[in-house]
Amino acid sequence: MGDSINKILSEEGSVFKAPSNIVSEANLSVENYNSLYKKSIEDPDTFWGDLAKKELDWFQDFNKVRDWKYPNYQWFLDGKLNITYNCLDRHIKNGKRNQVAYIYVDENAHEVKITYGELLEKVNKIANGLKSLGVKKGDTVTIYMAMTIEQIAAILACARIGAIHSVVFGGFSAQALRLRIEDAKSEVVICSSYTQRKGKKAELKSIVNEATKDLDLVRKIIVDSRDENFELFEREVDLNDLIKSQSAICEPEVMDSEDPLFILYTSGTTGKPKGVMHTTAGYNLYTHFTTKMTFDIKGDEVFWCTADPGWITGHSYIIYGPLSNALTSVIAEGSPVHPNPDRFWSIVEKYRVNVFYTAPTAVRMFMKLGEKWPKKHDLSSLKVLGSVGEPINPEAWLWYHKNIGLENCAIVDTWWQTETGGHMISTYPSFDTKPGRAGIPMLGVEVDVIDKDGNSTKPDEVGLLVIKQPWPSGLRTCWGEPQRYEKYWNEIEGFYFAGDLATKDKDNYIMILGRADDTLSISGHRIGTAEVESALVAHRAVAEAAVIGLPHEIKGECIAAFLILMEEEVPNDQQSSSIKEKVRTELGSLAVPDEIHFVDSLPKTRSGKIMRRLLKANRLGEDPGDTSTLED
Ligand code: WTA
Repeated sequence: MGDSINKILSEEGSVFKAPSNIVSEANLSVENYNSLYKKSIEDPDTFWGDLAKKELDWFQDFNKVRDWKYPNYQWFLDGKLNITYNCLDRHIKNGKRNQVAYIYVDENAHEVKITYGELLEKVNKIANGLKSLGVKKGDTVTIYMAMTIEQIAAILACARIGAIHSVVFGGFSAQALRLRIEDAKSEVVICSSYTQRKGKKAELKSIVNEATKDLDLVRKIIVDSRDENFELFEREVDLNDLIKSQSAICEPEVMDSEDPLFILYTSGTTGKPKGVMHTTAGYNLYTHFTTKMTFDIKGDEVFWCTADPGWITGHSYIIYGPLSNALTSVIAEGSPVHPNPDRFWSIVEKYRVNVFYTAPTAVRMFMKLGEKWPKKHDLSSLKVLGSVGEPINPEAWLWYHKNIGLENCAIVDTWWQTETGGHMISTYPSFDTKPGRAGIPMLGVEVDVIDKDGNSTKPDEVGLLVIKQPWPSGLRTCWGEPQRYEKYWNEIEGFYFAGDLATKDKDNYIMILGRADDTLSISGHRIGTAEVESALVAHRAVAEAAVIGLPHEIKGECIAAFLILMEEEVPNDQQSSSIKEKVRTELGSLAVPDEIHFVDSLPKTRSGKIMRRLLKANRLGEDPGDTSTLED
């Protein structure tokens, strides 16, 4: 393996030819890309306007493609549509009522299939149920559910009636959930009783109960009780009871292109997460188009994105993108390696999965388990493999290519963000790939790597990754905090600054180097150092905290915390465990530090800013660099 990695990394061997079996309508040759790309950047109105007319169904045509008043923009002005119509009704009208929309599989390989026709009925019943509880267009609904068909239907039901969904990942703690319910002002919460994880039930409803204790704002909690039987409290209603007498018809709410579709909280540089807000038409078009192009979709693929709808990847590439393209998707609740390390590969084999989209952290985990597990299965149905969330290191890339792709699949490394709504940089399947480099800008996306003065960097010079003009699925604002939205476009005057560092090579292939701000990527999920620090100081024994990310073999990055304890508190293992527990309850297990170091002081600048860079250099035994601003 060592030799091949060296070959990959050497200039000569660093390009992998596109597989020859990738030829289809959605597929782009390099020449096609070059001319289309030029057109898309020079005349975005024609490019996106034509696409929007061709790919989406409208209740009323838009009369202007784009309105760009820095730093705000709108797309497809005065157009009317409903995203659920584009995801469900239109396919049923086109004869796909009986096509399977989702194949759900649990850890015991028990499956549930739902067709487009059945899904629409379920969505409509929940939508009517929500209406019966007084939920209307513009209201926010918080969803805290297991990865089930019911979760997807609940999300779509909100969109059906124009309610704004705010999905919170089931791994978040009661505190984190409460903060998100309060911030979004959700009067209605939908939850599952539990989620399945490694053969056990992980409680969700009890977390909701804790999160909403004395929270009068919440009027109703809708509970998908699954196979459980329990008594419900006064403001709770069982999902099945709610929908059983509802009609299976619910006319889609007529939404303006720019009506909000959802908020999704993500970590920023302060302790408070930001509610990234997306609107209807631009998001619909962009997730539809990127699904089709990035994964070389012809229309009859079995698609499997292994994310959770609690993250943006799930919103865009489990729900809206695949449904808008009328695909059949797999969803698998629970652990990828339970009951056996080959659970995922048996699913690929059984359902003849064509597109498989996962995160580098998962690839590294599979790699560690060994190639004997995928070898037990016929993976020949696979055509395109995707990667998202963090850079995929060449070792993991090569393992993925050989053992899952059988050297016959395109690997698309997709760079994007909660804020961008869809893929911004990748390599289209027909393009040669360069392991370790995400690739080229997607059509319509003007990307550059620049220095602090706004000048493009030279090949291989490190710079800031920026986007130069709006794209249809960009965030429109941060919920209740417009100044945080403006920061994206103000930090570097005139450009959207993504917060990442990057380089580009002579062929314009972009390599993402990681975040330029104080956020971490733990198993591909964004966590702010400030959030973890505020959870740490919420522990009664902790006086001050600083958090850094360290390289981790599987997770990509893990958390190390440096803590100053209150006077008279004793630094010992018990203290460490209790502090870790505090982070678990404040934020969730994803944010629990792997390392806790008790220290007497923290390196700070004269203005009192913690120099995390020095902590990191010290911990890793590296050169600390410039220390002239250090106070002590
Ligand atoms: C990182 C996830 C390198 C990046 C969709 C970005 C990546 C942040 C990649 C967004 C990739 C995402 N290569 N880094 N292919 N994809 N990132 O909002 O730092 O959870 O800014 O969205 O993840 O994380 P988010």
